[in-house]
Amino acid sequence: MSRSPATTDPIQVSAQPSELLPACLDPARLPAHVAVIMDGNGRWARRRRLPRMMGHREGVEALKRTLRLCSDWGIGALTVYAFSTENWSRPGEEVTFLMSLFERVLARELQALERERVRIRFLGDLEQLPEGLQERIAAAEARTAANTGIHFNICTNYGGRRELVQAARRLAEQAARGELDPAAIDEAHFEAELLTAGEVDPDLLIRSSGEYRISNFLLWQLAYAEIHITDVLWPDFNEQALLRAVLDYQGRQRRFGGVEPLLLPDA
Ligand code: FPP
Repeated sequence: MSRSPATTDPIQVSAQPSELLPACLDPARLPAHVAVIMDGNGRWARRRRLPRMMGHREGVEALKRTLRLCSDWGIGALTVYAFSTENWSRPGEEVTFLMSLFERVLARELQALERERVRIRFLGDLEQLPEGLQERIAAAEARTAANTGIHFNICTNYGGRRELVQAARRLAEQAARGELDPAAIDEAHFEAELLTAGEVDPDLLIRSSGEYRISNFLLWQLAYAEIHITDVLWPDFNEQALLRAVLDYQGRQRRFGGVEPLLLPDA
């Protein structure tokens, strides 16, 4: 009676170390999935006495740089937080600007993304987005769905708590229909109902602009991620900043709740 979780394709990570990987990075310990909270666009603009919108525009350039670098280095997936369920409370003018920016960038960059074999997906409640943007998203996802390059996930109108509530609701509906035994629900069932189903969990979370918060981002998926917080404001995020983040990650001892093997007492 228990329905098994949907089977999903494994993430495509290049088997060969990328020739473009900086020599100081260990190709065997690259994060397979990097998540980013792109913060600090407004402060970047304010420091230059520019309108906040200019910060968002420069933020797009930083995002393009980061995607290119992750792809070149052989990182399998990049997931970024572009617009949260809480961001609707920003001034209407800024929300409208961001929505039209997303639409324009998608229209402008789609060909290049296709050429570079990027598989693009938008994660969040997309039906609340403007219709023109929804159409662009549907077209971009369809046109890149079979691409075998980096998985590029853009969280838009996304909230981690909302995602968890929706997953719980879908499992409850399956149980109410008699398709799923509540006692059989496990982590795999839950994961299969998340927007990131099929993606490995992020190994590394980068947050720019020096804030120490998760901000309702990927609450389930970040359970064991290593966190790198940098003071760099998102529009200034560049190769050096990404290199520092990955080096920091490679210096961490990942224990996933266990103990460091060398500290085990003799049997
Ligand atoms: C946070 O900075 C940034 C955002 C809410 C928007 C991020 C969007 C982009 C970088 C553009 C992405 C484009 C596409 C196509 C996905 P903030 O405004 O909160 O900065 P502040 O904290 O300094 O005010």
